[in-house]
Amino acid sequence: MIHKCLFPAAGYGTRFLPATKAMPKEMLPVLTKPLIQYGVEEAVDAGCEIMAVVTGRGKRAITDHFDISYELEHQIKGTSKEGLLAEIRGLIEKCTFTYTRQNEMKGLGDAIYKGKALVGDTEPFAVILADDLCVNAGGDGILKQMAQLYRKYKCCIVAAMEVPHEEVHKYGVIEGKEIEEGVYMVSNMVEKPDNDKAPSNLAVIGRYILTPDIFEVIRNTKPGKNGELQITDALKTQAEQGMVLAYKFKGRRFDCGSVEGFVEATNYFYDQMKKGESEPVSEKKKKK
Ligand code: G1P
Repeated sequence: MIHKCLFPAAGYGTRFLPATKAMPKEMLPVLTKPLIQYGVEEAVDAGCEIMAVVTGRGKRAITDHFDISYELEHQIKGTSKEGLLAEIRGLIEKCTFTYTRQNEMKGLGDAIYKGKALVGDTEPFAVILADDLCVNAGGDGILKQMAQLYRKYKCCIVAAMEVPHEEVHKYGVIEGKEIEEGVYMVSNMVEKPDNDKAPSNLAVIGRYILTPDIFEVIRNTKPGKNGELQITDALKTQAEQGMVLAYKFKGRRFDCGSVEGFVEATNYFYDQMKKGESEPVSEKKKKK
């Protein structure tokens, strides 16, 4: 039901300088895969086949990554290295990638609005912020869980998690009433409130399902926190005029927009890889 996924990917990634001076932050690898590829895999797992990427200057590596590299593939054809490209080749075959640029950094709301040209305004669509790396080992991915919830409620849904009270100032924070286990009807949303003014410690993380009427709401939203057009403010209006849900997802989220979170994710995936390597061969076969 959700066919398209939008990836706002125009940010500078200043927290990772100098690594991000000439390389998009979305291309930073956790083990051997760039962040944005984890996001695309999550979107495919949720049923999306059109990936709409809002990029900016200096982001061409993203476009090249989701394309065939004839020269490289010719070089490694028939060698043991060939298999290393199998996963990304599979993704390229399954999805269509479309791109547009956000020319000025005017906030997440503006980046999503720019994506209207790619996702259109007739269908619901997903949004993934690639620097929030999400996993749910052995279960459904976070976006897939949200897509299932969308089928029931057919309204905008944000992924949420409880964070320590002293960290709420880094997030969009929601206030709401629990209507079923882990599902909250949002009554208020605040972008990066002061820790002592936050309505709760339920923070929005970078997974959204949006209905196309959000574009009109964004268009009528004024710049908010830090002078930027915030999707949080548009969703607050949407919650007041209709319905927005916050979903406490099953799984784990790594804040790969910070060095600490990035290292945590790297350690987690490394441990998973080592565990996989040490499993008896018969177990591995069963999983396939
Ligand atoms: C964005 C959103 C914020 C959300 C966060 C999740 O902020 O504006 O509401 O909680 O992503 O990662 P950013 O971290 O891009 O400043």
